[in-house]
Amino acid sequence: MRNLPMFGLTHGNRSAVTCDLKCDNACSRPAPNTSCEPTFQSVASAALSRRALLAGGGALAAAAAMPIVHAQEAEASSRAAGGLKFTPIASVDSTKDAFTVPKGFRWDPIIRWGDPLFKNSPAFDPTKPSAKAQALQFGYNNDYLDIIETNRGGTEALLVCNHEYTNRAIMFPPATTADEEAEVLRTLKAAHGFAVVELERRRRGEKWSYVRGGYHNRRITADTPFAFDGPAAGSDLLKTKADPEGRVALGTFGNCSGGTTPWGTVLSGEENFNGYFVADPAARGSKRYGLTNAASSYGWEKIDPRFDATQADYAHEPNRFGYIVEIDPTDPKSTPVKHTAMGRMKHEGANVRVDDDGTVVAYMGDDEKFDYLYKFVAKNKYRKGDSRAARKHNLKLLSEGDLYVAKFSGVQREDNANLGTGEWIPLTKNGKSAVAGFTLEEVLIFTREAADAVKATPMDRCEDVQPDLKTGRVYVVCTNNDARGTAGKPATDAPNPRTANKNGHIIEITERRGRADATKFEWDLFLVCGDNGQAGTYFGGWEGPVAPISCPDNIAFDSAGNLWISTDGQPSSIKKNDGLFKVPLHGRERGHLVQFLAVPVQAETCGPVIHDQDGSVFVAVQHPGEEGTWAAQNSYFPDYVAAGAKPGKGDWRGPRPAVVQVTRR
Ligand code: FEO
Ligand code: CA
Ligand code: CA
Repeated sequence: MRNLPMFGLTHGNRSAVTCDLKCDNACSRPAPNTSCEPTFQSVASAALSRRALLAGGGALAAAAAMPIVHAQEAEASSRAAGGLKFTPIASVDSTKDAFTVPKGFRWDPIIRWGDPLFKNSPAFDPTKPSAKAQALQFGYNNDYLDIIETNRGGTEALLVCNHEYTNRAIMFPPATTADEEAEVLRTLKAAHGFAVVELERRRRGEKWSYVRGGYHNRRITADTPFAFDGPAAGSDLLKTKADPEGRVALGTFGNCSGGTTPWGTVLSGEENFNGYFVADPAARGSKRYGLTNAASSYGWEKIDPRFDATQADYAHEPNRFGYIVEIDPTDPKSTPVKHTAMGRMKHEGANVRVDDDGTVVAYMGDDEKFDYLYKFVAKNKYRKGDSRAARKHNLKLLSEGDLYVAKFSGVQREDNANLGTGEWIPLTKNGKSAVAGFTLEEVLIFTREAADAVKATPMDRCEDVQPDLKTGRVYVVCTNNDARGTAGKPATDAPNPRTANKNGHIIEITERRGRADATKFEWDLFLVCGDNGQAGTYFGGWEGPVAPISCPDNIAFDSAGNLWISTDGQPSSIKKNDGLFKVPLHGRERGHLVQFLAVPVQAETCGPVIHDQDGSVFVAVQHPGEEGTWAAQNSYFPDYVAAGAKPGKGDWRGPRPAVVQVTRR
């Protein structure tokens, strides 16, 4: 087991434990994209004040060409002010082990790590790690979340979420024998992946309960078979000793954000897969995907040879991760799919937009400093309806299509109300490689290298990228990038305007002529995050006070035209717990950001789901008390057995990542 780094905060306001386990210390290593070095200005950038823009000239012409029509949206103000009414909370001090909601609201965990999903699931008992038990229980570190109602009365639903990573130091006691150690490692594999869980309640607006033994209940782990589909399925680059056809991969892990499709499946991004492998640094793609030959943080190579890619038999195993996976939660027997047509990167997630004519587009970010923003345009159109034929057709939509990467141009203004245009550069065209020197399979398996070759714009870590299905505008959440503009690194530019960007920003994209498959777009900066009043912050033009926010990560929309933002890291200057924030996108209050809830000490707010018409907000609370140890835990979320109190039978004296529902009292 590799030594964990010293506790404390790293560059990005994240705990050192999170950095080690979640992203294999990406911050402390050189960014794998060296194609954009040395420093150069990839985007036309001019420091212009708003006054200069208003005074006319070229800049005004540029501004006037933007179809970004905030003035026309005043009528939307009342709509935007609608949705869930609440009194915002103040930021919560980062030492506080509490889940904080607005006055008049309550919070309840729906399901927690270790909760039994099946009739035959053993009871949760972290003192005895068991892979068999864990595979029948809710997994660890829930991230992407959706609550999909399945009946008209709103009394039945499916909870779908992924389990991104694990933290054995606080999950289980230290192993004392080689057998115990091997069982811990197998248990960690079983704690990764996905869960599908049936929910029920008596009537709308009430708290959900999960159904133990529900027909749809399912666990997908790091060992569940996935089918490759798309043009690279069967490629030599995907073949291993265990899968000589290159068509079936075992498991998914590092699954971060995701999206639910209009046809009812769930997409999830395989993000920091590199940290699970020992690899040959000289192998194709190793350097660009951050694969090294150091012992992995997880140590799975000790129990499963495929995680040692320095061995010829498994040299291609890392090539089998980094995809968008699609899971059909309505069919517990279905084989989940890895979509090679959507490229391979540190996929944060994918979110689908369907135009009126059925055109299907998925937006995707590659969450690494100086990596890129992508979109996938499906070859075939969406078919409406629930017929068997329509379902079968729609389940193949992401198997064929073309992949594009974004190149931005733009104007940088003094107040960071930046705006500009952009281009989607094809990496594939009509199902063939569009990149000189790359075969189609190489474009899809070494996508980062193909995007380097076409000089895409290096971004400040694109996390969630999600279209607002009401307006079609696409919100690109850039969580942070402390290397931006530093020595030898890409300079600031209009879409990434801050040197050593610690607090992140959100870009708003409008596709040309409103079409999702456009190859050109316009954009502006919606938020440039940070402490209230801090220089360089920008809140959609709103000039009143806002809640301080940093490291925006996952987003969701409500029925009233508001954006909800969950965070992964808060301003180091004030040191607050992560939270969930609401901000109107339209009207007079555009940019007026307020805080709705805060998660406990050392936790990240994930997977927000906003059912405002039902009076509910859901979040996945990830890595609470992450810096603790088995013997000295830092959080008791969500059960809060009082420290020092005599534990009752079955009381767990440590944190359990959990899905929480917030409702009115
Ligand atoms: Fe798992 Fe990109 O955060
Ligand atoms: Ca994320
Ligand atoms: Ca994150």
